[in-house]
Amino acid sequence: MTIAVGDRIPSATLHRMTADGPEKVTTDDLFAGKRVAVFGLPGAFTPTCSARHVPGFLAKAEAFRAKGVDRIVCVSVNDAWVMDAWGKSQGVGDDIAMLADGGGAFTKALGLAIDLTGAGLGVRSKRYSMLVEDGVVKALHAEEATGLTISDADTLLADL
Ligand code: BEZ
Repeated sequence: MTIAVGDRIPSATLHRMTADGPEKVTTDDLFAGKRVAVFGLPGAFTPTCSARHVPGFLAKAEAFRAKGVDRIVCVSVNDAWVMDAWGKSQGVGDDIAMLADGGGAFTKALGLAIDLTGAGLGVRSKRYSMLVEDGVVKALHAEEATGLTISDADTLLADL
């Protein structure tokens, strides 16, 4: 079942890159007491994700902050090294936390996994955006698959 507005984010462990290597980030710590804009996508360095999805959120980072969002988080079923390299290539700096859901456990727990084996990617994430306040989903825009129609930064900003 797909997560819905009003649901609590499932407990899971993601990874982020640090100077000392990948570090665990629990969703409990990530969301506790914070207003967080999350977007998920099928893969680092893939065309729409790189050309539109990440740049859209990066361009609106200040607008999210102005609306009281504490952090913007990008999640993909990739490893922390790939997410780090992609974030650097996108110039996200501290504006977007690039978090790795390497085994896809978080994405599956959200009900947002998609099997892209046919496209050569394996089990990945549908494209989505959501606003999470203190661990509870307040807005959700989940695409049917990998297209970018409703999970863009502007649509989520309009919810704030
Ligand atoms: C894209 O970002 O355009 C994309 C992602 C996954 C599969 C195919 C395309």
